[in-house]
Amino acid sequence: MTDVAAKDSLTVTDNRTGQQYDIAITDNTIAAKDLGQIRLTDEEPGLATYDPGFVNTASCRSAVTFIDGDKGILEYRGYPIEQLAEKSNFLEVAYLLIHGALPSKEEYDAWVHEITYHTFVHENVKNFMHGFRYDAHPMGMLMASVGALSTFYPDARNISDADNRHMQIVRMIAKMPTLGAWSFRHAQGKPYIYPDNDLGYTANFLSMLFKMSEQKFEADPRLVKALDVLFILHADHEQNCSTNAVRSVGSSQVDPYSAVSAGVGALFGPLHGGANEAVLRMLKRIGSKENIPAFIDGVKDGNERLMGFGHRVYKNYDPRAKIIKKSAEDVFEVTGTNPLLDIALELEKIALEDEYFVKRKLYPNVDFYSGLIYEAFQFPPEMFTVLFAIGRTPGWLAQWAELVQDKDQKIARPKQIYTGDRQLTFTAASERWG
Ligand SMILES: CC(C)(COP(=O)(O)OP(=O)(O)OC[C@H]1O[C@@H](n2cnc3c(N)ncnc32)[C@H](O)[C@@H]1OP(=O)(O)O)[C@@H](O)C(=O)NCCC(=O)NCCS
Repeated sequence: MTDVAAKDSLTVTDNRTGQQYDIAITDNTIAAKDLGQIRLTDEEPGLATYDPGFVNTASCRSAVTFIDGDKGILEYRGYPIEQLAEKSNFLEVAYLLIHGALPSKEEYDAWVHEITYHTFVHENVKNFMHGFRYDAHPMGMLMASVGALSTFYPDARNISDADNRHMQIVRMIAKMPTLGAWSFRHAQGKPYIYPDNDLGYTANFLSMLFKMSEQKFEADPRLVKALDVLFILHADHEQNCSTNAVRSVGSSQVDPYSAVSAGVGALFGPLHGGANEAVLRMLKRIGSKENIPAFIDGVKDGNERLMGFGHRVYKNYDPRAKIIKKSAEDVFEVTGTNPLLDIALELEKIALEDEYFVKRKLYPNVDFYSGLIYEAFQFPPEMFTVLFAIGRTPGWLAQWAELVQDKDQKIARPKQIYTGDRQLTFTAASERWG
């Protein structure tokens, strides 16, 4: 113990022993390992923190994405999401996330070229995708096929080589739409469509999804733009569940295909990627504007939940929701309006003025309008998370690349508080059942 504690420190007294400790505060955090010095006796383990779900634990230093949930701010590499959605495109944003800076013209052209020319997958990938059951969930197919790419690129294990990492990053960003589109076609019993390298990233994805017998499938540019914006909005969200899964699995120094496959698995879960589908179900259940007041009363009574509202991090309007609302208008201009939109708009209006929601800082989140847009594209709900995964891929990879170069990182291995039995005496089955 020091007599005069440094200003950037925390002084704690262990009331079990009366001993005082100074623990350094850096970046508004204390290092959990510093708590390890607080112990009852030399033989006993030091003090640890208990934090299921990491609600108040920083697991890394990261320069990829900044979020201020109280103010409703989201920035990728320092650039506000609003500006990126309005003025950039998904591949440029992917470059920014991966490289940490915007590309020059030459860098951008080379990046787009590389991604475009890696969209094809080995024919055997197609063959094993055909082996899935006719009704396989596309997210399960995506998770399995992206993981399987590790067997096609065994050199991907060489994660300490920068050029090698770059190659796998390009491959994965390029091939995710191909795998996602084929997973979609599979459930429909339609032939898989090969990439069309004349098309841009998002236009090519739409072609692989919807092309039938026409020579060339060219989607309405307004739809291409709207989907591109949705990809941008989903491209990263700092240490969310799936990114944490990618980092955790990646910390074993496995290849990035295996790590991203774990991220897809995490995103598959309803607490992560599935809320927009729940919004659609809710809007359909409400059915018409007249039923909204009764529904809101049900929410206030605790019998209902207003899906697409509220967020663990955002206690303000989710900045992505504002942009999505605008994209929804653009999409409906092409596809014709969805009657559920009127219900959503009215619901939002009423909720934003209602004291229950205002007091609890419940605002629309990214999922409130995204399901409506996806439905307008004629995606079945099972595809919603696949679209999310394609958008999130550059973020997962940027975070993975940051992880493997971070000297502070170790294999992810949390502690536990053991609650089971100890030192029981084992009796062989023959004697127990004798
Ligand atoms: C996202 C979500 C899980 C965040 O939960 P959280 O940070 O743990 O917030 P809490 O559950 O502690 O909610 C705080 C209060 O607001 C209420 N609340 C939160 N979200 C609500 C919603 N969507 N509808 C009605 N009430 C809600 C809670 O009941 C709680 O009220 P109380 O203080 O009277 O008990 C939650 O807001 C939710 O379930 N939203 C709907 C699902 C959704 O849209 N998910 C997508 C997120 S991107």
